[in-house]
Amino acid sequence: MTSVGIDAMEIWTGKLVLDLPNTFAPVKGEDPEKYTKGLGLHTSSFPDVYEDIVTMGANAAKQLMDRKGLTPADIGRIDVATESAFDNSKPVSTYIAGCLEQVYDGDFRHANKGERKFACIAGTQSLDDAYNWIKAGRNRGRAALVIATDTALYERGDPGEATQGAGAVAMLIDEDPDLVELSTEQGYGSMDETDFLKPNQQFPSVDGKRSMQVYLARMREALEDYESVAGRTHPDLFEYIPFHTPFPGMVRKAALLGFRHMTRDTDIEDDLESEIGRQPREADFETWDDYEEAIRGYMDELKTTEQYRDWYGRVIEPTLDISSRVGNWYTGSVHIARLSALIAAADEGKDMTGKQLLVGSYGSGAQAEIHAETVQETWLDEIEAVDVDDQLAARTEISFDDYELIHDVHNHEKEIEVEEFTQPEAEFVFTGWGRMNERRYEYVE
Ligand code: COA
Repeated sequence: MTSVGIDAMEIWTGKLVLDLPNTFAPVKGEDPEKYTKGLGLHTSSFPDVYEDIVTMGANAAKQLMDRKGLTPADIGRIDVATESAFDNSKPVSTYIAGCLEQVYDGDFRHANKGERKFACIAGTQSLDDAYNWIKAGRNRGRAALVIATDTALYERGDPGEATQGAGAVAMLIDEDPDLVELSTEQGYGSMDETDFLKPNQQFPSVDGKRSMQVYLARMREALEDYESVAGRTHPDLFEYIPFHTPFPGMVRKAALLGFRHMTRDTDIEDDLESEIGRQPREADFETWDDYEEAIRGYMDELKTTEQYRDWYGRVIEPTLDISSRVGNWYTGSVHIARLSALIAAADEGKDMTGKQLLVGSYGSGAQAEIHAETVQETWLDEIEAVDVDDQLAARTEISFDDYELIHDVHNHEKEIEVEEFTQPEAEFVFTGWGRMNERRYEYVE
C-alpha cells in the first residue's frame, strides 16, 4: 500500500501584528485577560497594504518549492482552500499558479487547479482530495500543492473582531511523505447549521456562541464516527491532538469533551472514580436535559483533576502556540496547530518517529472531520526547516489607529489610499486591478 501524506509545510504570516491585550483591549474598554486568559490570544497577524490571500499563499508555496527543490513539472495539482475569496468564478489557485510561473521555469499547464469551500474545514478537505488523487494512481508521480489561505476579518464592532488573523499554510502532499502519513480511516460529523456564513458578503454573519456549541457537537459526532472505523480511542494513543483553533479557548472546551469521551469505560475513568465519581450514563436519566446537566457537572470536576491537567499540558497545550500569536487563520488554523505541536516536540528533543496525532478539523455550516496521522522518520529535518519564529518576530507592530486603516484597506467596499507599513522584499505583491477587474500581482526582488 502506498503511504500518502504531508511531505512538507511552510507558512506565510501577514506582515503586521496587533497586540490584543495591550493595544486592542484598552480601546475596546475590555479587560486584557479576556484575551490572554479567556480567548487565549496574545497577538494577531494582519496583511500589509500589498498583501492578500494570493500573495500570502503564493509566498508560502514559493518557500516550500524552493526548499524542496521543486519546479512546476513536479506538481500535478494545486488546490486552494479559502473562505476569503474575492471572485465567485476564477479560483485563487489560478492566481497563485500565475504568480509562481513568474519566477520558475516551466508552467502548471497540465496541473489540475481548484478552490475548496466549506468554511475552515476546506483546508483539510483539500488534503483529502490530494490524498485520494494520489491513492487512485492519477498523479503520474507528481505531488499536490495544497494552500490554505485566509484573511479572517470581521465587521468592526462584531464580537468576532477579537479573533481575527491572516496567513497562509502551504503543504506538499506526496507518496512516501517526509512529515506525516494520513490514515485511511476518518470520521465525519456534518449537519446543515446556521452558525457562521458569508452570503455574498465579505464579512461573516456570525452567531459566535452558537458556533461554539455546533463545533463541539459536530466534533463529538466525528470522533464517534472515526471510532466506528478505527476502533476505540484512548488518550494515551496520541502524542498530540491538533484541533481547528479559531482561538485557543475553543480548543480548551473541545479537549475536555474529547478527554471525557475517550476515557469512558477505561482505566482512567476507574482511577478518577474515588475523586469525582463515574461519568453519568444517559440510561440513568429521565430526560436528555437532566443527563446534560449531570455531564456538565462531571466535566467541571474533571478539568480540575491532576490526570486531565497533565494530559492537557502534554497533548493539547503545545498545539496552541502559533495560534495564540497569529489569531484565526480559518482554513489554515488546524494545520498551524499540527505545526505548533511538532515544533514543540523538536524543541523538547522528543523522538516522534512512528508517533500518532489525532487531527480534529471543523468548518462552520457545519462539519467536523477526524483522522489520525503517523509521524515519519524524517520529520525533524522538515520541522527544523520551517522559520515560524523568525517570521513572527519580523512582523511590524501596529497601533489601534493603524489597525483601523488596515481594516479599511482590506474592506472590499472601501477605497482608501494608505502608505504601506513595511517594505516588500523577495516576495509576491498585489499591484492593482486590471481591465476586467482582475487582481494583479508581481514578484519584487
Ligand atoms: N479573565 C479571564 N477570562 C475572561 C475574562 C477575564 N477578564 N473576560 C472574559 N473571559 C472569558 C469568558 O469567560 C469566555 O470564556 P468561556 O467561553 O470559557 O466562558 C471568553 O473569555 C470569551 O469571553 P466572551 O465574553 O464570551 O467573549 P465575546 O462575547 O466577545 O465572544 C466569541 C467570544 C468567541 C463568541 C467571539 O469572539 C466570536 O464570535 N468569534 C468568532 C466565532 C468563532 O470563532 N467561533 C468559534 C467556532 S469556529
